[in-house]
Amino acid sequence: MRIGVLASGTGTNLQALIDAQLPIVVVVVDRPCEAIARAQRAGIPAVLAERASFGPDFDRVEYTHGVVDTLEQHGVDLVAMAGFGTILEKPIHDRFPDRIVNTHPALLPAFKGWHAVREALEAGVKVTGCTVHFARLEVDDGPILAQQAVPVLAGDTVESLHERIKEVERELYPRVLRELVARLDGAKVDEAKIDGAERDRPKLEAEGTAEA
Ligand code: GRF
Repeated sequence: MRIGVLASGTGTNLQALIDAQLPIVVVVVDRPCEAIARAQRAGIPAVLAERASFGPDFDRVEYTHGVVDTLEQHGVDLVAMAGFGTILEKPIHDRFPDRIVNTHPALLPAFKGWHAVREALEAGVKVTGCTVHFARLEVDDGPILAQQAVPVLAGDTVESLHERIKEVERELYPRVLRELVARLDGAKVDEAKIDGAERDRPKLEAEGTAEA
């Protein structure tokens, strides 16, 4: 399994994935950020797919094609989003169906979107958390792989709460990805076994042609 990580920020989740020795072959970022240095320190190629614009003229589909090309060039077969700040379009979902995973700092389906922690705090919930899920075209949607709760404490700020959530994400995300990689690698081995068994199986007399 070859993982491509998409990141935009401080990259502490990326660091947790690196520390867990997951098979990361490339890190793609959409802006200059700390994630680049983290990748470089680990000897992983970091590619800056810089967004030309944050305005209405931004061509999201074309940008997505660029990201997909980079992932393909590195032979990626599993995409892990770790705080990537650009919503990607259909081409990445077409190219990697059920092979894009995301971590979100809330208990989905509650508090989707970029301001999940602030909105949870403003809503006055007593418990929030994080969700690792397969990504879909709709933002912060898709089958849930794992969730963990984080209590909201009296006096929490967006920063303090987000930091406690990220502590949990840094444990949960690598664990879920490790399990997923093992499952997908296992599936590959099984397929190879079936292919091999099919190839090695002696041909029966009657199998030659349909008419035989
Ligand atoms: C995480 O909370 C992640 O769930 C969210 O962005 C944050 C990334 O943090 N999508 P970091 O850059 O990994 O420190």
